[in-house]
Amino acid sequence: MNTLTQNTYNPEELIPAFKKLYGDSSENIRVFSSPARINIIGEHIDYNGGKVFPAAINKYLYVAVRKRSDSKIIYNDLRFPGTYEFDINDDFKFDKKNDYSNYLNGILSEIKNSGFVFPCGFEILMVSNIPAGGGISSSSALECGFAYAVSETFGFGIDRVSIAKLGQLSEHRFIGVNCGIMDQFIIATGKKNTAELLDCASLEYEYAPLDLGDFCFVVMNTNKMRKLSDSKYNERRSQCEQALKLLNEAGVKCSNLCELTVEQWKDAEVFIKDEILLRRARHCVYENRRVLDAFNAVKNGNLSELGELLNKSHESLKNDYEVTGIELDTLVSAAQKQEGCLGARMTGAGFGGCAIALVRKSQVERFEQNVQAEYTKVTGYEAGFFACETGDGVAALF
Ligand code: GLA
Repeated sequence: MNTLTQNTYNPEELIPAFKKLYGDSSENIRVFSSPARINIIGEHIDYNGGKVFPAAINKYLYVAVRKRSDSKIIYNDLRFPGTYEFDINDDFKFDKKNDYSNYLNGILSEIKNSGFVFPCGFEILMVSNIPAGGGISSSSALECGFAYAVSETFGFGIDRVSIAKLGQLSEHRFIGVNCGIMDQFIIATGKKNTAELLDCASLEYEYAPLDLGDFCFVVMNTNKMRKLSDSKYNERRSQCEQALKLLNEAGVKCSNLCELTVEQWKDAEVFIKDEILLRRARHCVYENRRVLDAFNAVKNGNLSELGELLNKSHESLKNDYEVTGIELDTLVSAAQKQEGCLGARMTGAGFGGCAIALVRKSQVERFEQNVQAEYTKVTGYEAGFFACETGDGVAALF
């Protein structure tokens, strides 16, 4: 069974590999880590001014970096073949053939746009234990981990919230995905043993101790790759903007959909005649409410209630927001039926990627076997599973 229970690479491995690749030099090699994330609840509402409740988890990307004496930039990754070379003075442009380097060059562009000046180039070696394109934010981990590594190495001292903003800007302007801020924010600011309640309208945030007792979150990977830029992500975002416009034109005063309480929504919904836009907006209002309920449930240690909220969230993402699909729906409904599972839902953008389930620790093994069997029977794919713990946001390791 494809059960990932531990990280495959550790950061120490990067140093000898780095020296072998780039040779020795008097400059220090620094190593940084950047986590994956799960979103416990609050899906597709970060770009609607909503509140979200993600946590950084203990699966990391590691970035080793060393300054060079010339202006070259060289990128390598232990797992992906190919060396990418640029010059720090280049005017970086997205180019498909540059593969993952686009994420790094996008960040460099934004750092330079913010007025920081690089006195020399640098070389990079990375390795990641985060499944790529899998819905737990491998690309934001790359963006924020790299931004933090470069900022610390060159003494720019960019604060964590600005690291998150750089990552989001780079997605918008360089990669072409109009994502919200949630992924970059939790990856930059996450703290072990906590989840974070983030208000995406004001960027105010608070940590909530995440004590799950005998339970844990199991990440379930559909192993169906998706690329956000190819998906309907941008379309969903513009549907929400259209719904908001209709409400505003009808005199409903709100600057984003999540500003509406459930009660206000009940008066306002008549102004959206288009059935699809109505469902998209309804998801946003109710999902935002569920986030606040989930935050309180965690605070009060009421895990059964948290589980029920996860189930409701998935239903809404399936029926109203339509971002699930057969793979995620199969995983989630199989999970919800298992003994010891309090609830399950897709996490992240959807359209493939990952789901999470809240499962009693002693029943995780049986849970994974049963869900796997049902998933393979229906879809023909093998799912990946791992029970996760919380992790720390971007950090300097050595
Ligand atoms: C992706 C985006 C986030 C967020 C989620 C859906 O992960 O990067 O900003 O919109 O989808 O909640």
